Amino acid sequence: MSHDLVIRGGRLADASSVFEADIGIRDGRIATIGTGLDGSEVIDATGKIVVPGGVESHCHIAQESSAGMMTADDYRTGSISAAFGGNTTIIPFAAQGTGQTIDNVLETYDDRAAISVLDYSYHLIVTDTAIPGFREQLLAAFDRGVTSFKVFLTYGIALNDEEFLDVLEVAREAGALTMVHAENNALVNWMRKRLGEGGHVEPRFHAPSRPRASEKEAIQRAVGLATYLDAPLLIVHVSTPEGMAEVARARAEGAAIYGETCPQYLFLTADDLNRADGTKFICSPPLRDDVTQETLWRGLQTGVLDLYSSDHAPYRNDASGKLANGGADFRTVANGMPGIELRLPLLFSEGVAKGRITLPQFVQFSAANASRLFGLHPQKGSLAIGADADLAIWDPEARWTVRHADLHDAMDYTPFEGMELTGQCVGTIQRGRKVTIGGDLVAAPGDGQFLPRARLDRTGRPGTVPPEMDPEQNFGADLSPKQ
Ligand code: URP
Ligand code: ZN
Ligand code: ZN
Repeated sequence: MSHDLVIRGGRLADASSVFEADIGIRDGRIATIGTGLDGSEVIDATGKIVVPGGVESHCHIAQESSAGMMTADDYRTGSISAAFGGNTTIIPFAAQGTGQTIDNVLETYDDRAAISVLDYSYHLIVTDTAIPGFREQLLAAFDRGVTSFKVFLTYGIALNDEEFLDVLEVAREAGALTMVHAENNALVNWMRKRLGEGGHVEPRFHAPSRPRASEKEAIQRAVGLATYLDAPLLIVHVSTPEGMAEVARARAEGAAIYGETCPQYLFLTADDLNRADGTKFICSPPLRDDVTQETLWRGLQTGVLDLYSSDHAPYRNDASGKLANGGADFRTVANGMPGIELRLPLLFSEGVAKGRITLPQFVQFSAANASRLFGLHPQKGSLAIGADADLAIWDPEARWTVRHADLHDAMDYTPFEGMELTGQCVGTIQRGRKVTIGGDLVAAPGDGQFLPRARLDRTGRPGTVPPEMDPEQNFGADLSPKQ
């Protein structure tokens, strides 16, 4: 039987195996995996690796920061940059402003996302739980398929512990996933004040202003509150061995606690803040050290950490972004750095090519784990028959040097400038249609579609709830207080 498109002769990898075969695509879905397949169009993948397109599940696009600064990337540039980096799905954030209804947040982001080249969903960022009807509005967002949301325990938008418990409870009852930015707000504020009083405000003081103890305490507290309620919880951007140990401990006890780390914590250190252009390296939690890097790699290798995401937070290093207040005082510099296009090339080069992880692990961290945890499996992030034909084709031998000039975001720098990499994404396909081939963009703004996502099951784990949303589903369990 003929196909619309055949990817011929590649080495295929999914989350559990590597094998040689052709992929036959019909009506935008994977129809056949076998040999000698025919199609109206054929892409020769001889010598290439073919994997599920990446699912980038932590990126800030067309979003105001907690301090009100808009990211440089909109959904057009952000999704194009993601595609050239081997992704075919993005899940950025839809951030609530103070007093804003959740409905209005989603309407706002529906407008912003209409120019996406890639399929997309959002995680809500919940900052104001005091709006009238908050709980019902959050439940309505879950019914729409926006089944995850992030809260902060730091910054001006921090929830207090009582508010945090409130949202954990709603999420637990509804089968939604709470994501938490865990740093101890009091310790951070106290350190910022102390450092300021001593005149220690250059960019390099950003790292000590957010000490490792701050992450450890906040993760420990967040995990403690979530496990008390049996609520699933994802700790985003884990940046310390201490924080990772808290995640590992909870998981060993069987709790539905998940951990994520990001390229900046694997490939950069706080020493980068000492550079003349140190503002480029200000993100939170801050960069750490090389011992941390090795520990986080072990977390990925052993499965203590589930997700590897870019935390792409693009603020240019100029007066429109990080230098809006001059850049001399770290306390007034926008937090975050770009990475959506380099997340996967860095993982391929430093992980697969250097033998730290296997190809199936690459697929787990690039696509499969995020797709499962965020309710997109098996539609995205898998090579299953019937799944969306979302693929990335990698040349494992390509050697190249990272130059921001070659990237496709709206930024003016990359923190990974000059790194020598092995392996490059040479093509992406979404629902059977080419998005990028070589250096060329084929897809157009607006080709991306909104993806309603499934919920977690009643134990807080992915994979057992059908993708169809069922507003009647009752995930509520016994809420009586425990001893
Ligand atoms: O510094 C960072 N990571 N900025 C982006 C917002 C966040 O906390 O993820
Ligand atoms: Zn965060
Ligand atoms: Zn983030």
